[in-house]
Amino acid sequence: MIFEGKTINLLLIEDEDYDVRRIKNTITPFEERIKINDIVSNGLAALELLQNKKGKYDVVIMDYQIAGGLMGEELIKKLKEIDSTIQIIVITKMTINLNDYNFANKLIKAGAFWYCTKYPGDIEDYIYQPTDFVMSVFNAYEKCLLERERNRSYQKLHRNVEDILVQKKIVGESPIMIELKEEIEKFAHSNVNTLIRGASGTGKELVAYNIHYRSDRRYENFVIINCGSLPSQLVESELFGYEKGAFTGADKKKLGLFEIANNGTIFLDEITELPLQAQVKLLRVIQDGEIQKIGRTEKIKVDVRIIAATNINVEEEVREKRFREDLYYRLNVLPIFVPDLKKRTSDIPLLIDYFLSNISIDMGKEKPEIPDETMKIFMSYEWPGNVRELKNVVQRILFSSQARITPLLANRALGISEETKPANEFGFGDMFNLDNIVPLKDMEKVLRERYFKFVRINSDSDTDAAKKLGLAPPNYYRMAKELGLK
Ligand SMILES: Nc1ncnc2c1ncn2[C@@H]1O[C@H](COP(=O)(O)OP(=O)(O)OP(=O)(O)O)[C@@H](O)[C@H]1O
Ligand SMILES: [Mg+2]
Repeated sequence: MIFEGKTINLLLIEDEDYDVRRIKNTITPFEERIKINDIVSNGLAALELLQNKKGKYDVVIMDYQIAGGLMGEELIKKLKEIDSTIQIIVITKMTINLNDYNFANKLIKAGAFWYCTKYPGDIEDYIYQPTDFVMSVFNAYEKCLLERERNRSYQKLHRNVEDILVQKKIVGESPIMIELKEEIEKFAHSNVNTLIRGASGTGKELVAYNIHYRSDRRYENFVIINCGSLPSQLVESELFGYEKGAFTGADKKKLGLFEIANNGTIFLDEITELPLQAQVKLLRVIQDGEIQKIGRTEKIKVDVRIIAATNINVEEEVREKRFREDLYYRLNVLPIFVPDLKKRTSDIPLLIDYFLSNISIDMGKEKPEIPDETMKIFMSYEWPGNVRELKNVVQRILFSSQARITPLLANRALGISEETKPANEFGFGDMFNLDNIVPLKDMEKVLRERYFKFVRINSDSDTDAAKKLGLAPPNYYRMAKELGLK
């Protein structure tokens, strides 16, 4: 019930005591609900109060003509600038033509909620028809509450989006990554279908998130579909849904992913995996903006932005007739390419630091130090699995719980060991193995053996090798035998 509830706080801007009294009299019967908190006689004083006591007032009642220069539309605009949710009721003099719609329009346009013309001066008790006046205050208050509620939900949504963008941050300051980020910003605002390409683990999904959550559709759904993981017989019902009774077993209607993504964005990952039949249907959705649900004759209008991604050569798929050419052109309106990690080595230290910081917090571990010689290993590594591989390597590093990541630990985290890297067979970095510390004489034996092999392979003959090793040939043969090399 409108006459019960919280107190409505008023700010009154009126410079004539006579009118202040008339306004007070008009609302007196409702003084339990409507409270005049402050009365000021000029615009500047009103702005100052509103500024200092934000949220204290719900409704402003202001005389149109007041002393002090700042008045009318200008004052309304300034009040709304300070608090856009505050509702303003304007009282004007009788002298203004009652049919002057233009005047009313100007007030409303400036941001006023309602306006009324004062009773003639000889009516002492009321400023205006009392019930109308009071009702307008209640209505103004309701609108104020609605706007405040809407602002709160908007702020909540906004914070969520901000949080997502922090989680989905694209790390990288190399020129190609800066260019990519600029493209994302530009593409986000274009609303056109986008095809993201790049090798596995380069960050295509991350790019798709960034496009959606930076676009005007950011408060709507972002639906991710991995086309490769949908069994071909289910693709259609997943994408477009079905009506109850459309087929045996359809005991209730199912919303398709396109309906769920309506007004938002759909991300079709591994797009080339989409079966040809579903490709035809997708093409139709793009062309007509309509979906055809299974078991329903009328089509349903949808407004969905499509972002697709692939790590394979789509042109090749088109040539081999596994992917429809027309669909390819419809999706590839804005192509975006995410480069391999080895093309942006200067980002490697940034990415390592980023993941070390984040994952160490998640794992409750201290962030270890990466000395320069270790960073060199990371920067010269090929990273076939791109950023995903780098993230996994950082995880492995953190599992080792070492305060300082030596080149050996780095190589181990990268999976580079003697077995996987024969070129390293004669190196001895891997011999200093924390899990396998051996007595010195054993280590000397391993060292001799490897060094012997290394020198022999790189010599023309045993005699040549003996010479290089500074050994007389008989000693060379004896030692080679001891080492089991002969
Ligand atoms: N520039 C980057 N900054 C921060 N994290 C990144 C960056 N690039 C990728 N990642 C992270 O690396 C992982 C792999 O990225 P993503 O899943 O986006 O790659 P993808 O290209 O979609 O891979 P795939 O082709 O295998 O599907 C994710 O955890 C992602 O958050
Ligand atoms: Mg992906």
